Amino acid sequence: MKSFEIKTKIYFGDNALDRLKELPYKKVLIITDPFVAQSGMLRMITYKLDETDIAFDIFQDVVPDPPVEKVVPGIQKLLDYKPEAVIAVGGGSAIDSAKAIKDFAVQIGRLGQIPLIAIPTTSGTGSEVTAFSVISDPKAHAKYPLVSDSLIPAEAILDAELVKSVPPNVTADTGMDVLTHAIEAYVSTSNNEFSAALAEKAIEICGTFLLRAYLDGNDTHARQKMHVASCLAGLAFNSSSLGLNHGMAHQLGGAFHIPHGRANAMLLPHVIEFNSDINIHSRSRKEYLPAVRKYVNIARILGLQNFNTITTVRALVNWIQFMMKEMDIPISISQWGKVTEEDYKAAISTMADGALADACTATNPRKANKADIMEIYRNIW
Ligand SMILES: NC(=O)c1ccc[n+]([C@@H]2O[C@H](COP(=O)([O-])OP(=O)(O)OC[C@H]3O[C@@H](n4cnc5c(N)ncnc54)[C@H](O)[C@@H]3O)[C@@H](O)[C@H]2O)c1
Ligand SMILES: [Fe+2]
Repeated sequence: MKSFEIKTKIYFGDNALDRLKELPYKKVLIITDPFVAQSGMLRMITYKLDETDIAFDIFQDVVPDPPVEKVVPGIQKLLDYKPEAVIAVGGGSAIDSAKAIKDFAVQIGRLGQIPLIAIPTTSGTGSEVTAFSVISDPKAHAKYPLVSDSLIPAEAILDAELVKSVPPNVTADTGMDVLTHAIEAYVSTSNNEFSAALAEKAIEICGTFLLRAYLDGNDTHARQKMHVASCLAGLAFNSSSLGLNHGMAHQLGGAFHIPHGRANAMLLPHVIEFNSDINIHSRSRKEYLPAVRKYVNIARILGLQNFNTITTVRALVNWIQFMMKEMDIPISISQWGKVTEEDYKAAISTMADGALADACTATNPRKANKADIMEIYRNIW
């Protein structure tokens, strides 16, 4: 038996932030990162709360790839302040932190339900609608996805005004995260008709609007589309989970702090080659692995279908690499240039163990063993 449910009520479109004026609470805790707190963005939210006499306090000690140590003071703040609801404002790091803080505080303080309202300021993770929260353990150089329905936000507010300030490199990285979510959800062993419909739309939007949003951050139409695509892809993988790409990307993030979407992008062409068993040397054959038909569909959605199965899957890989070049995303770890070859190679075996154990890897369409994963890590050097 399968089931499909969207637990989060989604507010989107022009003036979506006006939803804040309708909130039935008297006291809320805002969880955000220092950049968002100091920018004009947070004011766009607190202004609405002031207008409706909703009291608020702010916890702004969120860092990228949130570590456990930064979650603990947030739990203390929530237990002390006793808000009726939590509002997360920021990228995936802020929303994931808020999810973990709220969930642990509710358990520790034996509090009743505290609704979480997620307001993303990047178009990337889809965390505003997912049951995932990715927390880092810096001592172990690791990143773990926590997965629980209790982490799903009650409400998501998608207001593209908030993403206009996202710089081009973050637009590129987070946009590739959206694309990777949609592609992995689409080929996942837990995929279903509902997740597929959501993933297809997200892929179509990335194909048309990601480059536009990258080239002109003030292109409101492209920004709105990518903000919705991020949420659609989040809904897709919340239903079907992800795959090896994310399992491996989490280790790169934990070990070397490569921005999450950037790590996904570097891996994506290689993981497609592995999952399809189609590479630059492949010749046509009678039968292909199960994911191949799905990759062909993705290529068709992107307008890349051509000649035969092999050339079509190759076209998809080429297109991803083309997008990376257009958006100045390094296509390899060496091109990224922030880690030595020696350190990288020394970490491969441990990263492969982590990727095998990562919750996302379980639904990859082709089973990978440690040697396969190590080879992919070597290939992205
Ligand atoms: N929960 C999930 O379902 C899920 C899915 C994918 C990734 N993740 C996790 O989310 C995190 C990545 O999130 P992210 O990619 O959104 O990045 P992020 O939240 O780490 O933000 C990246 C940078 O962009 C800045 N920023 C945020 N909004 C901005 C704006 N409007 N204008 C200018 N700068 C802005 C932030 O301050 C930060 O410096 C990773 O830890 C990743 O593992 C979670
Ligand atoms: Fe992701």
